[in-house]
Amino acid sequence: MKNLSIQKTTNPMSKPAPGEALGFGRVFTDHMLIMEYDKGIGWHDARIVPYGPISMSPASTCLHYAQETFEGLKAYAAEDGRILLFRPEENFKRLNLSNDRICIPRLDEEFCVESLKELIKLDKEWVPRQEGSSLYIRPFVIGNESRLGVKDADNYLYMVLLSPSGAYYPEGLKPVKIYVEENFVRAVRGGMGFAKTGGNYASSMLAQHTAHEKGYSQVLWLDGVEKKYVGEVGAMNIFFVIDNEVLAPELDGSILAGITRKSIIELLKSKGYKVTERKIAIQEVADAADAGKLQECFGSGTAAVISPVGELKWGEKVMVINNNEIGPIAQYAYDTLTGIQWGRLEGPEGWVQEVCRL
Ligand code: PLP
Ligand code: COI
Repeated sequence: MKNLSIQKTTNPMSKPAPGEALGFGRVFTDHMLIMEYDKGIGWHDARIVPYGPISMSPASTCLHYAQETFEGLKAYAAEDGRILLFRPEENFKRLNLSNDRICIPRLDEEFCVESLKELIKLDKEWVPRQEGSSLYIRPFVIGNESRLGVKDADNYLYMVLLSPSGAYYPEGLKPVKIYVEENFVRAVRGGMGFAKTGGNYASSMLAQHTAHEKGYSQVLWLDGVEKKYVGEVGAMNIFFVIDNEVLAPELDGSILAGITRKSIIELLKSKGYKVTERKIAIQEVADAADAGKLQECFGSGTAAVISPVGELKWGEKVMVINNNEIGPIAQYAYDTLTGIQWGRLEGPEGWVQEVCRL
């Protein structure tokens, strides 16, 4: 590929054994991608190099002012030996939206997709074959100027790491328990909630910690102004099924526009389900639970895939959903989405792209 150099490792690492529990984001492949940006020059020197530490100035701007954006997508090993990517161009489109928000120079989205494919080709033996596991892909950008003044950096690094990974949540497809956070907020309108930037995740950790201590696996965030409307969960978007209608919180700028969310909405609509994106008050969810009309609740995300919610706790109120079992719509969403991602089902045109064959 033009403008991409490749330095292969001379010291390949040992790959996880088939069937070995991988966890999430703990194991990395033999290679990674790096590209640099310097003001006045632009993005340059894209290269695939052996995976390893990078050296940087302790005054690097990302370390002090969190000028960082990232993405998460996956490569899947189909049974017929194809390695597939799911809607990768959507991730790089979103990376640029995140970049715009915190003054990081835009990347060439097509170059990002094509160079990612080269990286995966080189490390294709690392794509896990076992059911439910995939190659998690983490592109990210950091401000990397050595200077303590608060200003967007003049130098950046773009990198891509590959990590063979299993399920993000140990529960897998078993319903998770979620705690509705009433004190802290993750994002406010006009803030950075729609951007995938590390600061949003840092601001979520204290509430996440408290929820864990109370026996809940994740936090459901409410809007940052009135703490009245449902936003999203720590690392996934949320859906409710109330009275046979699928509801998703609208994209109001304070939640991430999930690619899984968008795909699920499309799949459910084309199956004939009524799907509405709008403001959803947590009170409305509680009222529906009381009236026996809260049929399902589930989260969606690249890492989380589809994660049914079996219990929601809001203040003193505990809502048990669908007897703590996965519901039919979440199951349909899971089966269809993963079927498409693993190349077992035909998806809408262009959703799945072949990278190479094993
Ligand atoms: N919301 C947050 C905060 C996330 O971190 C993620 C994961 O990327 C999502 C939603 C789901 O987005 P996607 O479906 O694009 O992975
Ligand atoms: C993803 O689903 O890709 C995420 O980024 C979630 C989390 C690991 C931050």
